[in-house]
Amino acid sequence: MANSEMIESVNNVSESGTERQTVGASFCDDPKFSIRNASVFYAEKQAIFDVSVDIARHEVIAMIGPSGCGKSTFLRSLNRMNDTVEDCRVEGGFHLDGQDIYQDNMDVVALRAQVGMVFQKPNPFPKSIYENVAYGPRIHGLADSRVDLDEIVEDSLRRASLWDEVKDRLHQPGTGLSGGQQQRLCIARTIAVNPEVILMDEPCSALDPIATARIEELIEELSQNFTIAIVTHSMQQAARVSSRTAYFHLGELIEVNPTEMVFTTPEHELTEAYITGRFG
Ligand SMILES: Nc1ncnc2c1ncn2[C@@H]1O[C@H](COP(=O)(O)OP(=O)(O)OP(=O)(O)O)[C@@H](O)[C@H]1O
Ligand SMILES: [Mg+2]
Repeated sequence: MANSEMIESVNNVSESGTERQTVGASFCDDPKFSIRNASVFYAEKQAIFDVSVDIARHEVIAMIGPSGCGKSTFLRSLNRMNDTVEDCRVEGGFHLDGQDIYQDNMDVVALRAQVGMVFQKPNPFPKSIYENVAYGPRIHGLADSRVDLDEIVEDSLRRASLWDEVKDRLHQPGTGLSGGQQQRLCIARTIAVNPEVILMDEPCSALDPIATARIEELIEELSQNFTIAIVTHSMQQAARVSSRTAYFHLGELIEVNPTEMVFTTPEHELTEAYITGRFG
């Protein structure tokens, strides 16, 4: 996306009157996802403070920041995975294509297909490679026949750049694949149900550099069709795969800017301290 499409972010003033300002280019025209004044609590403890940001269509946005700053918490609020966490409460506006994903009659199972998630540790089901990918399309009724389903499985595995490695052993267990292959299988499983947004929470942290490079290439390809939000601890990875980067610090969104700018001339001193390794 052209940076000119971004609109400068506005000041946020918290209830206590202290100014909370995300610096940089947080908003865009016609966003895929629009998040306004998001706060997330675990019982009494607040983990996310008044975060407002847009995610543009087909962009890859990276989320970085020190451990415990709320990256996973924020990501999970985008497909209501936090609903499954006891005592977790989410406030604020979350609109996907203009639709409030926290409205009462939202079909959460359908939402999680529309906004898919890939986790840090590859977590294939204890089923065959084929069944791992076929499971979602089957429960969402996406295939009319076995031939249809075969086609979805093959197409998803191809798009996850795994087909050639597994086409002769589709009926062997998914757990028998290497870590990097398992993560690509999880990506195939996610894309098999036609998501619009893919959330990735440190998808490469359990992988070696070669497997990581393959996933990074894949992210670039997938961004042509999907909108991707990726949490990473690797600044090199954020720099390689994303067009914008969001820096979180102690539950606040400090800065959102084009990735290159965040890593060369960050606008906020906290971002600079993090990228230069002064804390993290
Ligand atoms: N299930 C939970 N119950 C209670 N507190 C939680 C829970 N999950 C996270 N937290 C707290 O919320 C804050 C943010 O955690 P979160 O896991 O979102 O951070 P993170 O930025 O993803 O960290 P990391 O980089 O280590 O993965 C932390 O203080 C953490 O202890
Ligand atoms: Mg995390």
